[in-house]
Amino acid sequence: MTYQVILPAAGQGKRMGAGKNKLLLELNGVPVLIHTLRVFEQDKACSKIIVALHPQDEKEFKDLLIKFHVTKAIHFVPGGKERQDSIYNALKTVETVGVILVHDAARPFICKEHIDRLTQMAEETGAAILGVPVKDTIKKVQDGTVVETVERSSLWAVQTPQAFRISLLMEAYQRAEIDHYLGTDDASLVERLGYPVTMVEGDYDNIKLTTPEDLYFAEAILEKRKHLE
Ligand code: CTP
Ligand code: MG
Repeated sequence: MTYQVILPAAGQGKRMGAGKNKLLLELNGVPVLIHTLRVFEQDKACSKIIVALHPQDEKEFKDLLIKFHVTKAIHFVPGGKERQDSIYNALKTVETVGVILVHDAARPFICKEHIDRLTQMAEETGAAILGVPVKDTIKKVQDGTVVETVERSSLWAVQTPQAFRISLLMEAYQRAEIDHYLGTDDASLVERLGYPVTMVEGDYDNIKLTTPEDLYFAEAILEKRKHLE
């Protein structure tokens, strides 16, 4: 079965502090954006790729597609103020049947196996997200004092991709717009409709490049993969 994917890429990378969009930073000589795009370019099940980008990055992004020989058609839409706005802009341009994936362009280590499991699950249940069990003990803190140690066994750290039947995600975004609701991920918009979301276990390599330390982890993951090839 096929799917379409939205790649939000219109952020500013403020926490990375590189002075430019972090997706332009290179890992092994290849920009993060291209690492992520290649996964979907090589996946035959991926029928459409929509990238939300900031107008100031447009020329550089398009030049990179040529430089790194990306041959699959990439559709660009303008990003918005928040990640949710960027995704909504993209969602308005997709074919309205089937499954849609939303995947942060800043997660270049997503693998085909997890995309397949997620897509299949979303087709069956309507909504499925990738995540991993939390390894740390998590405490709730107020004004510097611990108020609660949260039971860890039920905690999961959520990643992307998140996959949905397109009609469901569209409804969730329309509802969020009406209610002026801003969620921290796409699934939360679906959850508030009362719709069940299935958790699919991914792996700890699927990190989001957020702060400068993450670049060290990224180099290590690439090195590990080199030895596995
Ligand atoms: N994103 C987007 N539109 C926005 C904000 C973010 O498309 N208005 C994208 C980013 O480009 C990134 C993904 O959403 O691929 C996840 O966001 P995040 O990791 O927060 O990236 P940035 O917003 O770029 O980083 P920061 O919050 O540190 O500025
Ligand atoms: Mg951000």
